[in-house]
Amino acid sequence: MRVSVFGLGYVGCVSAACLASLGHEVIGVDVNQVKVDLVNDGKAPVVEERIGELIADVVRAGALRATRDVHEAIMGSDVSLICVGTPSEPNGSLCTTYLERVTEEIGAAVAERGGRQTVVFRSTMLPGTCLNLLVPILEKFAGGTAGVDFGVAVNPEFLREGTSVRDFFDPPKTVIGELDPASGDVVAALYDGLPGEVFRVPVPTAEAIKYADNAFHGLKIGFANELGAVCRALGVDSHQVMDVFLADRKLNISPAYLRPGFAFGGSCLPKDLRSLVHAARRHDVSVPILAHVLPSNADHLQRAVELVERTGKRRVGMFGLSFKPGTDDLRESPLVELAERLFGKGYDLRIYDPNVNLSRLLGANREYIETRLPHLAQLLADSVDEVLDHAEVCLVGTGDPAVLSALPHGDGPVIVDLIHLPDADARRAEPGYVGLAW
Ligand SMILES: NC(=O)c1ccc[n+]([C@@H]2O[C@H](COP(=O)([O-])OP(=O)(O)OC[C@H]3O[C@@H](n4cnc5c(N)ncnc54)[C@H](O)[C@@H]3O)[C@@H](O)[C@H]2O)c1
Repeated sequence: MRVSVFGLGYVGCVSAACLASLGHEVIGVDVNQVKVDLVNDGKAPVVEERIGELIADVVRAGALRATRDVHEAIMGSDVSLICVGTPSEPNGSLCTTYLERVTEEIGAAVAERGGRQTVVFRSTMLPGTCLNLLVPILEKFAGGTAGVDFGVAVNPEFLREGTSVRDFFDPPKTVIGELDPASGDVVAALYDGLPGEVFRVPVPTAEAIKYADNAFHGLKIGFANELGAVCRALGVDSHQVMDVFLADRKLNISPAYLRPGFAFGGSCLPKDLRSLVHAARRHDVSVPILAHVLPSNADHLQRAVELVERTGKRRVGMFGLSFKPGTDDLRESPLVELAERLFGKGYDLRIYDPNVNLSRLLGANREYIETRLPHLAQLLADSVDEVLDHAEVCLVGTGDPAVLSALPHGDGPVIVDLIHLPDADARRAEPGYVGLAW
């Protein structure tokens, strides 16, 4: 394929050289004449493992050359990868100036070119940037419709500086955010033959994945370092702790606990986080990540309260009360906390939880409910229907089959989904459905 790569920094020059070595005909473009000259001399404009030899090889073979001329690059290519920088502004916001500038230039050149050019954004940008900011610029300058007259895709890169050439040929995954299938096909063809799973997703999803990855990587490092600092203060070998921690592939290094849902609770997580943070404080160890886990959880619970408030309705039904489905344990249940807040704000509440109901009938946990939560005990309903008959808004905090099968679609009460219901994707299109974090 004939490929132009805009921006010959870390991402662009590695992408350009590696694509050339896969057999594509590549033109690199940069505003910086020094970088252009370096590439044309067969030298790398960045320091990276293996990039020097690779650029020398592909330039010698005639598979890669560089220019400052956008017009020449667009005329000589069918697909353009945008790899310009998107640095932080002083206030932390994303600077899109370079992206906007290069998109204008590419659009103007595409307007003069026959045939369909596919413009692929590889720079990291917040969800919405491509469709709301860059596509309108392209359409204005190229004078056509994106997805029809020219292709558009977002293809974030997941290479690590230092090992990016190696990562290019053995990527953790390939993500293609496609405006239309033809645009996605072009990007897929670029990487044909490389290992790793290919995910073809809507454009904003591709943009968001990069942020999910990097936020998680930062969080992992911060978590490990804070835990290490606490262990050190407590005289514990943190590496031994993490060796065992990492060996747990069921609950720790696994998909467990990584889907957006409701707040956590129960008799262990809140208590143990509190005492760990307290121990750190006692030893003057600062642990801002660990210290903010419970506040983050409380904010998440507050989001559910706000969703109910926003409906403007007063008669509220709640499905689920125990701290997680399949148990009748109410200690530190976030659903109990949610019910108490709504009760305190004067909402007319009815609650149904099959496990709590059974427990009440059997006498188990009865005392806890009647002595510790007398105000809630009187709100417990005996059936799903009793709650549905009462409610203008339903909070669904349990995946109990009897609840799921009874939940109405469309015209009934507003459904506030706290757990990402099994049919959440279909319900999202329905009026009166609100997801907590999806
Ligand atoms: N560095 C990484 O490891 C990495 C990894 C993943 C994603 N990213 C993302 O990729 C993007 C590029 O990062 P980078 O580290 O390669 O940036 P960089 O600053 O090293 O390179 C950007 C290049 O773009 C050039 N440029 C700016 N405006 C231009 C224009 N109008 N036309 C042509 N060239 C232009 C600059 O001269 C520079 O050489 C960023 O969005 C970054 O967040 C970087």
